[in-house]
Amino acid sequence: MTAISGRFAGKRAVVTGASSGIGRATVTRLAAEGARVGLIARGREGLEALAAEIGPEAALALPADCADEASISAAIDRAAGVFGGLDIVISNAGIELLGQDDRVDRLDLAVWQRLMRNNLDGQFLTCKHGIRHLLANGGGAVVCLGSNCGYLGMATNEPAYSASKGGVFAMMRVMAIDYAREGIRVNMVVPGFIDTPMNAPVMRDADELRYWSDQIPIGRAGSAEECAAAILWLASDEASYCVGTALVVDGGQASI
Ligand SMILES: NC(=O)c1ccc[n+]([C@@H]2O[C@H](COP(=O)([O-])OP(=O)(O)OC[C@H]3O[C@@H](n4cnc5c(N)ncnc54)[C@H](O)[C@@H]3O)[C@@H](O)[C@H]2O)c1
Repeated sequence: MTAISGRFAGKRAVVTGASSGIGRATVTRLAAEGARVGLIARGREGLEALAAEIGPEAALALPADCADEASISAAIDRAAGVFGGLDIVISNAGIELLGQDDRVDRLDLAVWQRLMRNNLDGQFLTCKHGIRHLLANGGGAVVCLGSNCGYLGMATNEPAYSASKGGVFAMMRVMAIDYAREGIRVNMVVPGFIDTPMNAPVMRDADELRYWSDQIPIGRAGSAEECAAAILWLASDEASYCVGTALVVDGGQASI
């Protein structure tokens, strides 16, 4: 993926779920294009290693749980304090519980609640505390991560994950309207089937991989970098007229 030199020069960002997959690709490219980035995820070690790789002038490791209000608000406040404000919030962290999420007649309330807490509460709290700083800044950009399961219902046996992502989609559309006149653009990237640690069991199993790839017009899984490219575009000034957009990055799957 080619970095566009200086596109984010002077911009200050936070990215949740920064240590893995799409979040990792996003922080790497934001930093390469000139931004200073607060890296938020739960595991301290992975974050510190990534921050060291990117370099202390561009990356700040902020271990936090997005679903815990005190934890995520402190991490975002720290990024804004160190950077002198915030321009960009990438609300990316999420989990999928394959094998536990199940048809509703078999679905444990605890599994449902864990998915809602991480995926929906987590994005609500990230946006809540990130947008406080964007308002103080006089504007900025928010990009949430949804999923094509969130409005196509294509992930059979994953009602809880799909409902959590459907919730993010609805919240994103309302936030987009609520903040449009205050210079804050809220948008969403909607990935399809992407080769990240979240899908590692499928990527390792040749039959499963063929089954999923056959359902995608382009015939393969997407990469974290292909999602990051879409996230960066929506966060950049080039997307200045995009408000409430759900940008699908799925190799054509949603068009079938
Ligand atoms: N990979 C796919 O095929 C795919 C498809 C559609 C949507 N998505 C969405 O894209 C986003 C990124 O997924 P990925 O594939 O990179 O997954 P990943 O598992 O590689 O990375 C997710 C990251 O989020 C972090 N995280 C999860 N819950 C957290 C919490 N409460 N607090 C802090 N950090 C937390 C994890 O620790 C991890 O660093 C997720 O929201 C996911 O639902 C992924």
